[in-house]
Amino acid sequence: MRNITITEISETHLGDVAQMHADLLWYSFNSKLGINHLKKLYKILALDTKSIVLVALDEDSQPIGFISGMSDLRKLKRLLIFKLGFVGWMNILYRCLIKPPILWNFFQHLKLFGTVESDGKEVIAGLLSFGVLRDKATPITGLLLMKNIIQNFSDEKITRLCSHTKSDNIVSLVIHKRCGFKISKQYKDNTVLINEI
Ligand SMILES: CC(C)(COP(=O)(O)OP(=O)(O)OC[C@H]1O[C@@H](n2cnc3c(N)ncnc32)[C@H](O)[C@@H]1OP(=O)(O)O)[C@@H](O)C(=O)NCCC(=O)NCCS
Repeated sequence: MRNITITEISETHLGDVAQMHADLLWYSFNSKLGINHLKKLYKILALDTKSIVLVALDEDSQPIGFISGMSDLRKLKRLLIFKLGFVGWMNILYRCLIKPPILWNFFQHLKLFGTVESDGKEVIAGLLSFGVLRDKATPITGLLLMKNIIQNFSDEKITRLCSHTKSDNIVSLVIHKRCGFKISKQYKDNTVLINEI
């Protein structure tokens, strides 16, 4: 089995991670906004102290997978509003104007990142994105990324994590469950999961 290294994202990985996000999570709102938007997004997350982006590298140090999350998801909107910048917001406006169906993705996105509660308390830490190039990766790369990010949150004394996945994404659901996530809410399209770590 080939060796996989899990590491925090650096400037040199931004282009590859943006491309993987666009290819693997093509249906997401952020993917519809283009590669430059995704690069900027991961740069913002990489520089933010409440965010974490991990990258799986193959033996040639090529990125073959990524996972991201935040220890305080309430900060995400503020982060984007202030850090995307004028060009970033103009890009969103332009994309929505030339392709209005993107707005549907936007509302799906808002719904997805709505408040998640467990025992009446808001779960503020959670995962944002996750993907692996299955043709290039060794089996269990996804599992390794998931275990590593959970360990990172645990080291930060985070005790509850939320995550979302498409309800028909069997592999993602298998990985979430194997790492301790339990289904909190199941909708037709999306499933909300919570992990008590
Ligand atoms: C979901 C994804 C990240 C998983 O990464 P991966 O590296 O392919 O997954 P792993 O190799 O770690 O597989 C994890 C487990 O799922 C199992 N699995 C794989 N395909 C399966 C299937 N069709 N049915 C059931 N289990 C399956 C594997 O056997 C493995 O379990 P095992 O170790 O007990 O054998 C990757 O497939 C991906 O990027 N998909 C597209 C983007 C996406 O869906 N992202 C998730 C959004 S939340």
